[in-house]
Amino acid sequence: MSRTPPTHRRRRRRSVLIAGAAVGAAAMTLTTLGFASADEADNQPMARVDNPYAGAQLYVNPDWAANATEGGGAAIADQPTAVWLDSRAAITGGSAGNSTGLREHLDNALEQGADAIQIVTYNLPGRDCAALASNGELGPNDIDIYKTEFIDPINEIVSDPKYAELRIINIVELDSLPNLVTNVGSRPTATPECDEMLANGNYVKGVGYNIATLGDNENVYNYIDIGHHGWIGWEDNFQASADILFEAANAEGATPADVAGFAANSANYGALVEDHFSITDTINGQQIRGESSWIDWNNYIDEQSFAQAFATQAAPAAGFPSGLGVIIDTSRNGWGGPDRPTGPGPQTSADEYVDGGRYDRRIHLGNWCNQSGAGLGERPQASPAPNIDAYTWIKPPGESDGSSEEIPNDEGKGFDRMCDPTYEGNPRNNNNMSGALPNAPLSGHWFQAQFEELLANAYPPL
Ligand code: BGC
Repeated sequence: MSRTPPTHRRRRRRSVLIAGAAVGAAAMTLTTLGFASADEADNQPMARVDNPYAGAQLYVNPDWAANATEGGGAAIADQPTAVWLDSRAAITGGSAGNSTGLREHLDNALEQGADAIQIVTYNLPGRDCAALASNGELGPNDIDIYKTEFIDPINEIVSDPKYAELRIINIVELDSLPNLVTNVGSRPTATPECDEMLANGNYVKGVGYNIATLGDNENVYNYIDIGHHGWIGWEDNFQASADILFEAANAEGATPADVAGFAANSANYGALVEDHFSITDTINGQQIRGESSWIDWNNYIDEQSFAQAFATQAAPAAGFPSGLGVIIDTSRNGWGGPDRPTGPGPQTSADEYVDGGRYDRRIHLGNWCNQSGAGLGERPQASPAPNIDAYTWIKPPGESDGSSEEIPNDEGKGFDRMCDPTYEGNPRNNNNMSGALPNAPLSGHWFQAQFEELLANAYPPL
């Protein structure tokens, strides 16, 4: 495999960024389906851009669109969602109940006249080391299989000159590197599986190989996962996460130039912006930051402030070039519907003030599986705020986070009790109830009852 010398891969300065205001739902519809793009024939690599979302029409995954339409979501079925490559078989045969392979998705994207497609590469050895619902097919030591049977075959397809004009946004291995910071060693949240993945280095190597290999293509934009504010927002986790990302960005042939940006809140539920309280507020002379059990000394109260601080502080401090943007998964963080607070909570105590005003209505910030009460969040859009490349739908709304009881399967998926509504929790959610919806199918499979709730609680409303 030939590597493009780093000098060919210089980025444009952020100052030339054109705001993506024109990228609205209309530009993302399927109206061009069936027509080949006029530029398709020349196969010339596109100029590298700072923000691959800006001004771009994004690919609408027809598998998800069909599920959404059938599930009563015709109003949002024209929205772009990411295509998940969650196993070797998914490369050619689709994943979790869908049958479309990567090449077919790329061909569809050309037919749609799309400028960009989002893929999630999600198959690390020993995947999902702090949970069970998305354990994968590869064992902790299968790094060579990851390289040669997962990343290399993806690269073979992606590097086909036929797709050279399509921006391929690669969202890299969710939940992996943050797990190596928070769920290891002497922390009460540690798991033996995460300790093993830290010790054998295979998450770091896998991410490095992933971005180095796919990043050789001028049209690939790698976004590395940074968890979410309710995980990485605490002092002890914040810089340490940026540091381990930087280590991965220099592993297995990768360089920081292989990183286009970061992905926050992927498949999670953190509110985008909490309007009714701020981290510096005090109630009865006491800082809510320490006094409210919801905030519990976190430095951030929402995804956007966390993402912006990561991009402007933690990432440059770790060694990344400044100006890298963050994409925020807004597929399920809307928290609308009748229970959405319309103003601040009472100033009686820090807890009542924060709990009465917060949009995020989870029982605990650490809850992550099929959260009851959630709604669709902001519709996908480019450049919505400083340092934010896009609000985007990484987790396709309506696809389960995990089964609420054990379901035998051949996808490597385990049963995580965080998906069981009767579960009373573990140290990672401070021993709270899971807040999960009942009767959920395996992760990735269509969960109609959840989809209906997401539609009903959408914010902005549909
Ligand atoms: C599952 C994947 C699925 C993805 C998107 C993950 O939780 O493990 O199989 O493709 O969600 O729904």
